[in-house]
Amino acid sequence: MNKLDFQKMKNRRQPISMVTCYDYWTASIMNNTDIDCLLVGDSLAMVIHGHPSTIPADTELMALHTQAVRRGAPDKFIITDIPFLAHRKGIIPAMESVEKIIKAGANAVKIEGIEGHEDIIRYIVESGIPVMGHIGLTPQSFNQLGGFKVQNKTESSAVQLIEQGKRLEAAGCFSIVGECIPSQLGQKLAESIDIPVIGIGAGNGTDGQVLVLQDLLGVTSGYTPKFVRKFMNGTEMISDALNAFNKSVKEKTFPSKEESYNG
Ligand code: KIV
Repeated sequence: MNKLDFQKMKNRRQPISMVTCYDYWTASIMNNTDIDCLLVGDSLAMVIHGHPSTIPADTELMALHTQAVRRGAPDKFIITDIPFLAHRKGIIPAMESVEKIIKAGANAVKIEGIEGHEDIIRYIVESGIPVMGHIGLTPQSFNQLGGFKVQNKTESSAVQLIEQGKRLEAAGCFSIVGECIPSQLGQKLAESIDIPVIGIGAGNGTDGQVLVLQDLLGVTSGYTPKFVRKFMNGTEMISDALNAFNKSVKEKTFPSKEESYNG
């Protein structure tokens, strides 16, 4: 998969699958799966580091995780999030952030929103870096949005979202994430622009779907958004394995003779 394949897949009506990935060992599993591309999302601040939002992620953290994912998944197209405010301090700081992330091994960067940094998105694209847009719910702005909620429910805000999609396409983005928007709007967005729209909580009418790995593996605890499907019950499976290990330690059935060295 490379940047051009995103467009080819949309043109052929082949849905694109994207999954978040934050570390080496999951990347090395995902490298040998059919998943089209990996996202080193700034959700790692929440999922891996236990923060309540994505705000604590910075460029250094994103680059560190990108390096690990690249080592584990040498064959995958990797997109990494530009973290909170890194693209809002002018072109030079934005380019420094992009440079660190691309040098860490990403093939492309994802940037939330468009208002006030459209020129920076265009500049990054013109510098030879593929940019994925991200509209709808943009978690870095959750304070402004009043929480993690479905966005663009009114007619005027739906029109605004389609306009943003068109402007991101005109700025040179190769694809767009549409997050937490009504499904009719997700489909309309995908139909209104030529580049692929990858949805999360955006219904089944987009050109692809992205989920957080830990959500789809069923290993996240607490509130599960409506749009998440758990493709396995990971928490139960991992707990069962750990309890089985604990039991064999306590019962002294582990290690066996075969699992021990002879002196
Ligand atoms: O950071 C992330 O995981 C994301 C996805 C939710 C699209 O941006």
